[in-house]
Amino acid sequence: MKLLFLGDLVGRAGRSAAIEALPGLIEENGLDFVVVNGENSASGFGITEQILQDVVDAGADVVTTGNHVWDQRETLVYIDRQPRLLRPVNFPAGTPGRGVNIYSARNGAQVAVVNVMGRVYMDPLDDPFAAVERAIADCPLGHVVDAIIIDMHAEATSEKQAMGHFLDGRVSLVVGTHTHVPTADHQILPGGTAYMSDAGMCGDYDSVLGMEKEEPVQRFLRKVPSSRFTPALGEATVCGVAVETDDRTGLAVAVAPLRVGGRLEPVIPHFWR
Ligand SMILES: [Fe+2]
Ligand SMILES: [Fe+2]
Repeated sequence: MKLLFLGDLVGRAGRSAAIEALPGLIEENGLDFVVVNGENSASGFGITEQILQDVVDAGADVVTTGNHVWDQRETLVYIDRQPRLLRPVNFPAGTPGRGVNIYSARNGAQVAVVNVMGRVYMDPLDDPFAAVERAIADCPLGHVVDAIIIDMHAEATSEKQAMGHFLDGRVSLVVGTHTHVPTADHQILPGGTAYMSDAGMCGDYDSVLGMEKEEPVQRFLRKVPSSRFTPALGEATVCGVAVETDDRTGLAVAVAPLRVGGRLEPVIPHFWR
């Protein structure tokens, strides 16, 4: 099965580039299942129901989030009627929405997706390791589901790598989001789980993490805010990770980064086309 995961859509530049690129990527490469992190898609902060719909219409099967999930107040209300939108699974019990769900892929396969948030250098939630363990307990890979994708939304690469090894051999892909910078450590771990510390954002890389660079630079220099952060609007690079899984086991047989458009060097996965 062919999976694609795209990192955080940042502002109009990132979300337009992803929405424009997705239909072609899916069609030309016969992708079976697509997950997109949308936590920064509404002017950099959260995701509206309309944007969620636009990203799903473009071909995303699931939209994950992270610490920015509630930045648009409407999300607290609409998330319960939008099963394709996930929030981190390790929020306290009773939080609206869901952090794990099972979906049908284009090829008829069943795919479980878990969104979880790290605790190191972040606002701490419940234990992400125990939360993921519980989330996948009912859907063993290769038996109940054909693929399991984990979006590990976290700051620290150590915590992301630990999650990768914790789940190695039990899920198809552990991919990091949140840092908005793609890492070069994509690999198949010894047990067969594809791993990448961060997928990178879909956004304008002539920026600070997708935001117009002037204000972030000023804040480092003067330590006083002078204006709001606004998303950079130059041409975005669509960044993500592609995985090919074994249809029998659900484990990864190939993993490669994807980068299209904008300022970063383009890469198309070697096992596509
Ligand atoms: Fe983000
Ligand atoms: Fe984040």
